[in-house]
Amino acid sequence: MIKNTKERYGSAAKFFHWAAGFIILAMIVMGTVMVSSSGELRPTLIVYHRALGLVLLLLVIFRLIWALRGPRPELPLSVPALQRGGANVAHISMYVIMMAMPIVGWIMVSASGLPIDLPGGGLLPALIKPDPNLYILAKWTHRGLAAVLAAFIMIHIAGALYHLFVAKDGVFEKMG
Ligand code: HEM
Ligand code: HEM
Repeated sequence: MIKNTKERYGSAAKFFHWAAGFIILAMIVMGTVMVSSSGELRPTLIVYHRALGLVLLLLVIFRLIWALRGPRPELPLSVPALQRGGANVAHISMYVIMMAMPIVGWIMVSASGLPIDLPGGGLLPALIKPDPNLYILAKWTHRGLAAVLAAFIMIHIAGALYHLFVAKDGVFEKMG
């Protein structure tokens, strides 16, 4: 089934969840390795980091539209109110940060004033004029948001594993 039902996520939501999830984890690892590496590796990783980030932006926009249109699978009644609230806060925050990261990244590289080259020799248009102060601000925002996102993902994965191994209430299987 492509669409969600009240009971479980459909194949489209599953595809979006796992594809975007995998890319995000790759982007966090790539970004961290990239800023701590020097020499040949750094410019190559930066070019792929940009391109993959833009793919992710498109994927998350489609994902959000899809999530807002369809029914949302409900959590079992056994899940306490505090956990429901926590899951909602985490899901909404992850959506917001997933969209903000590529946009802030694009603003950062635009503000640097350098050409924004992509893999294969393409160029990404700058969103704004060069601005050293904004570059610094965007760089710290990009870094800070990545850390917050990584924290939410860890809590999210811990929650998913709790449902799979401890609560055994079928919540994990809805997305599996
Ligand atoms: C969800 C998407 C993205 C994630 C999760 C992500 C994550 C990261 C992380 C973890 C770092 C290392 C930060 C640090 O420790 O300083 C980083 C650096 C960087 N990112 Fe991203 N990024 C994303 C999208 C983008 C996009 C779309 C662009 C450009 C168009 C971009 C450009 C950069 C650049 C240039 C750096 C190096 C910054 C520096 O010199 O400190 N990022 N990113
Ligand atoms: C091992 C990794 C992961 C596992 C086991 C996992 C598991 C799950 C499960 C079981 C749900 C359904 C929860 C419910 O119905 O309330 C879910 C939903 C969700 N997950 Fe994950 N997840 C993982 C990684 C990620 C990553 C990396 C992200 C991205 C930042 C992410 C973002 C979301 C979001 C936003 C939802 C809400 C449903 C939606 O609209 O897509 N997940 N996840």
